[in-house]
Amino acid sequence: MTPQVFVLDAGGQYCHLIARKVREAGVSAEVRPSETPAVQLASARAIIISGGPSSVYEPGSPTIDPGILNLSGTALLGICYGQQLMAHLGGGRVEPGLEGEYGLATAHLDPQIPLFDALAQAQQVWMSHRDLVAAVPPGFAVTASTPTCPIAGMADIARNLYAVQFHPEVVHTLNGRRILDNFLFEVAHCEKDWNPTAQLDQLEEQIRRIAAARNVFFFVSGGVDSTVAYTLCLRALGPDRVWGTYVDTGLMREGETEFVESIFRSLGATHFHVEHARERFLDSLADAVEPEQKRHIIGQKFVDVQDAILNSGHFLNGDWILGQGTIYPDTIESGGTAKADLIKTHHNRVAGIQKLIEENRIIEPLASFYKDEVRAIGRQLGLPQEFLDRHPFPGPGLAIRCLCSAKCEPVEKIGNEGWLIPVHSVGVQGDSRSYRPVIAFEGMPEHDVATEVINRVARVNRAIAIVGSHAPIGEMSVHTAHLTKDRLSRLRAADSTVRRISHESGFDQKVWQFPVVLIPLGTPDRPDSVVLRPIHSVDGMTAQSVKMDQPILDAITRELLAQEGIASVCYDLTHKPPATIEWE
Ligand code: XMP
Repeated sequence: MTPQVFVLDAGGQYCHLIARKVREAGVSAEVRPSETPAVQLASARAIIISGGPSSVYEPGSPTIDPGILNLSGTALLGICYGQQLMAHLGGGRVEPGLEGEYGLATAHLDPQIPLFDALAQAQQVWMSHRDLVAAVPPGFAVTASTPTCPIAGMADIARNLYAVQFHPEVVHTLNGRRILDNFLFEVAHCEKDWNPTAQLDQLEEQIRRIAAARNVFFFVSGGVDSTVAYTLCLRALGPDRVWGTYVDTGLMREGETEFVESIFRSLGATHFHVEHARERFLDSLADAVEPEQKRHIIGQKFVDVQDAILNSGHFLNGDWILGQGTIYPDTIESGGTAKADLIKTHHNRVAGIQKLIEENRIIEPLASFYKDEVRAIGRQLGLPQEFLDRHPFPGPGLAIRCLCSAKCEPVEKIGNEGWLIPVHSVGVQGDSRSYRPVIAFEGMPEHDVATEVINRVARVNRAIAIVGSHAPIGEMSVHTAHLTKDRLSRLRAADSTVRRISHESGFDQKVWQFPVVLIPLGTPDRPDSVVLRPIHSVDGMTAQSVKMDQPILDAITRELLAQEGIASVCYDLTHKPPATIEWE
């Protein structure tokens, strides 16, 4: 299907968000590189140029084919950098602003133009720019302004060319949805043609066509994407032709393997196999302490196990193709976290898989959908809501939530600030990674002090509050600890308790993710502590620590302190940045 809207990717993190918002309005949209020639875009009703971090006057910065400005029958909307590109290429002028404008602003709009139809003149918008348009190109008029940005919008209505400096695609632009709808339906006259759940028959037909006489094999993780992809193939080809293997690494949460197995059985899978690889994973991790070392070992183990499976059976003959749960953003080079990428790279590099890819023996039925669309498809396929709403869980599993230490070290009082805990965790600031100790406060601070303290105490990158303890912090220390079966069991039990209480109280619905972390801080009798890390996020790139209601926290703390080996319960107060979501 040819989409009605192309979103040109000028390098901004919001490019996929724009395409998702267009699809949310029921209009088909796809992302293309910004330099795509105009002739290849001429069939579209509308083109949207995304924002991006570059400056139009820097050599090598993303650009567009200027022919796009002259396509008849195609409406154009430039957003942020997109507006600057239109100004630059159309004969206007772009300059660095005297000051940047980041965050909320009040814009004054021209309500006469179709883009701002039915909107009040003063609007809350979200801005993120330093450069700005200083002079509009011939034919354009100014359509919006803010106190720091006199040209916050411009249009050449006769030619259907529109641009805004602010971001209508983000929720902070309160009427952003209305502005995008105005563009799609009033300006570009798009029709509603996009509904992922109405495409099931087509998707199944496509699977049958690609598979032809061949069978499909999946490595499933229990995650939403691979399960939905698997279910679609199962429906299209029947249980005899779709096989799945789940690798039990021993690093999963309590009941996970059984849960995944039960989901696949309930889907009607008959060739579903669990590869028990616990010993192989745990043996190779016995001496690992550092996060990247753990990831490397786990990635390599996955490679070994998957390769052994692919080489042992009949999978390398021409009767089989590989099914994968790849989704739309994965197919385009942007987004994702570096660490997640690393894991994916490992998985994709398995020699057996590489061979199947090279031979074009791969099927990815969800490659044109976004995560929320995959969930909608899953719902339509009858997958339980409880399954579709699961929080993301990292590939390396509990290994990166069970912190280790190569030596014994005391905790240290630092002035009036709190206690320095010599357990290192990962942080991120700008593009660089930090690996530093943690600062602990006794009890929950009254205010959000974490960021300020971390800025002041430069040698830490994370702040926690000790919310319950068997011993005073001064009597605890960090001890030598590795990824043993016992410590993983301890973490698994703690994680299971936290999950149960946060599920029963409804708290799990209020957060995006809720890692539970084990750190080797304690006493000889009770050598470990548990850290609670509930966070809000949109995409995992940034996150905010979330406070929980005191009665729920009290219930969790009480139960955890009653568990074997647990000396204290701590609460992670740090946002991302400066700390990452996971401790490792
Ligand atoms: P961080 O810790 O980088 O996490 O703030 C961002 C998101 O990515 C997940 N994460 C991973 N996922 N393999 C994965 O598949 C990994 O190695 C990995 N590390 C972090 C993390 O759970 C969060 O959702």
